[in-house]
Amino acid sequence: MSLNSLNLDLIRAEFPALQDGCVYLDNAGGSQVLQRVADRVSDYLLTSSVQLGASYTQSQAAGERVLAARRAVAQLINAPADDEVVMGGATTSLMFLFTQALLPGVRPGDEIIVTNTDHEANIGCWMRLRGAGAVVKVWEVNHQTLELDLADLDRLLTPKTTWVAMTHASNILGTVNPVAEVAQRVHAVGGRLCVDAVAYAPHRLVDVQASGADAYVFSFYKVFGPHYAVMWIQRSLLLALPSLNHYFIGTDVVPYKLQPGNVNYELSYGCMGINDYLVHVGNTLGAAGTERQKMQAAFDAFEVHENLLAERLLTFLRHKPSVRVIGHREATDGQRVPTIAFTVGEQPSEAIVRHMDQHGIGIRFGDFYAKRLIETLGLHAQGGVVRVSIAHYNTVGEIDRLITHLDEVIK
Ligand SMILES: Cc1ncc(COP(=O)(O)O)c(C=O)c1O
Repeated sequence: MSLNSLNLDLIRAEFPALQDGCVYLDNAGGSQVLQRVADRVSDYLLTSSVQLGASYTQSQAAGERVLAARRAVAQLINAPADDEVVMGGATTSLMFLFTQALLPGVRPGDEIIVTNTDHEANIGCWMRLRGAGAVVKVWEVNHQTLELDLADLDRLLTPKTTWVAMTHASNILGTVNPVAEVAQRVHAVGGRLCVDAVAYAPHRLVDVQASGADAYVFSFYKVFGPHYAVMWIQRSLLLALPSLNHYFIGTDVVPYKLQPGNVNYELSYGCMGINDYLVHVGNTLGAAGTERQKMQAAFDAFEVHENLLAERLLTFLRHKPSVRVIGHREATDGQRVPTIAFTVGEQPSEAIVRHMDQHGIGIRFGDFYAKRLIETLGLHAQGGVVRVSIAHYNTVGEIDRLITHLDEVIK
């Protein structure tokens, strides 16, 4: 059965901030927020702000809302069980907590592999484990293809490898990495895989089970929700971790043992609006089946639309001899998300971005905390890259407006 196409007017009406005239193309920095999410946060705060766990009706009802939110997040990421879902303020802080929980189990000589394409959130916390004797190796980007080669990983893996930490999609290169293939290789030597999906989750329906990862993390403020984040941890690993909570919160109390201070109730509840939205989009497309199948239909339609927009911009950039695209030069067959980074000759990247500011187009420049990637590619001297990051709610007209103004400054 063929589905309807994406109705951008209906989509954009879901995001009140999009009515303000700005062309939002800094979505990998933070996406716009759904009205449905804001309504839920507000509703929770105004009707359910009581402490959980008491026997009176309001406390019981609030507790049920927070649990329902956890179930919704489990559904969104396809977690096998909702008590494997750890929530917290940000990906960076969840990664920090997670590696603190791993710390007592680190033995001298344990090998950890990180990449030099990741955001620092999935590098620095692993580096800290060197204090306990871990040896950190770096899986380096291939400078010609700007990819992480599996053959290079194979050379780094040994029976001593305990963890590989990598990104599902780079927040600069936009490349989607074959995490399931990496997982197989890592598991074959007895190691585990931790995946940062912050730059991936706004563009593809997350499936933690299909990813093959043992730990999988991303932030909701990039996925149309609030400043809040989730980490899924594979069950036997989760149970084996020590508690980071009070001494009387035991290791079997999952996921609370990794949520000292507890989750944020209203933001958890707000995140349910993301599921509502995706299922609603699936329905408007005419998708049948389960809620997850409807969410999948929504993301499939997002991908088609995003690829169209990305290819329009990339076509323009490919025709400019002074432009170097830092990542795949084409938006085809699922190889990249529409996060497009480039440099213009030796020009400071800031100059391009400042010009766009004058025209109400929100893009940005810098290293985006993927500092090691920008440094290894020798791009720090010009202030890093210009980054245009597209979301499914962007329009062809917005990309054309961007191209018009880029054309004024790129020869
Ligand atoms: C790929 C990637 N990982 C991690 C992070 C950090 O996320 P948070 O701000 O939630 O700590 C970001 C933020 O931009 C990111 O782009």
